[in-house]
Amino acid sequence: MNKATRKTVIAGNWKMNKTPAEATELLTAMIPLVKDADCDVIACVPYVDLQAALDATKGTNIKIGAENCHWEKSGAYTAEVSAPMLKAMGLEYVIIGHSERRQYFGETDVTVNKRVKAALSEGLTVILCVGEYLEQREQGVTAEVCAMQTKIALKDVSKEDMSKIIIAYEPVWAIGTGLTATADQADEVCGIIRNVIADLYGAEIAEATTIQYGGSMNDGNAEELLSKVNVDGGLIGGASLVAEKFARIVEAASK
Ligand code: PGA
Repeated sequence: MNKATRKTVIAGNWKMNKTPAEATELLTAMIPLVKDADCDVIACVPYVDLQAALDATKGTNIKIGAENCHWEKSGAYTAEVSAPMLKAMGLEYVIIGHSERRQYFGETDVTVNKRVKAALSEGLTVILCVGEYLEQREQGVTAEVCAMQTKIALKDVSKEDMSKIIIAYEPVWAIGTGLTATADQADEVCGIIRNVIADLYGAEIAEATTIQYGGSMNDGNAEELLSKVNVDGGLIGGASLVAEKFARIVEAASK
């Protein structure tokens, strides 16, 4: 295992938080705090905040992403936003398959796969979320669940496009709950996902794929989680809404 073969990526997932004015304020506070980061820094924000976020971060090392996109390019899909629309704004990143989309909005492994392919066809980099429910962990099927979600999401994704895939392992029981997977649990499942990538695409691509941990990662636990060989970054919810906390996670990832 060689962590040096892949990028460390710290991404905020703002979820349904912040107005455009508040987004500008938060990002303006973050910019000086993360400017020397030795990792990629991304903020994924609500659709209505995207333009304000792009404007506020222009010329800085903070990249902006969306939190989802539809699989069709356009059409009668009220309230959805397509990958070409995101691309046209100048975005580079999009989260797909977040557990809140799966849990509350009927997202399935199949629709996740469709959205992943739509995003890739526009040249966007995808932060693909996978993770098990608490019952599944207790039933001993974490490895199977995460492998299945990863395989279906990546169906028909080419080897070449894997350079545009970041995977976020997010155990559902750890999201927004204050419960964090232990560093060893995070490392184990990120390693299982890496083996799935190796089976599908070969060892070289598996070694080059960034696999983040997400689920109550904060400025207190980030350093230990990020020290693990298979944990290449974090997808941060709550702690990404406070500039100083997010910056301390970026600092931990830059060590
Ligand atoms: P959390 O959210 O850090 O608030 O647990 C993580 C996520 O849902 O991406």
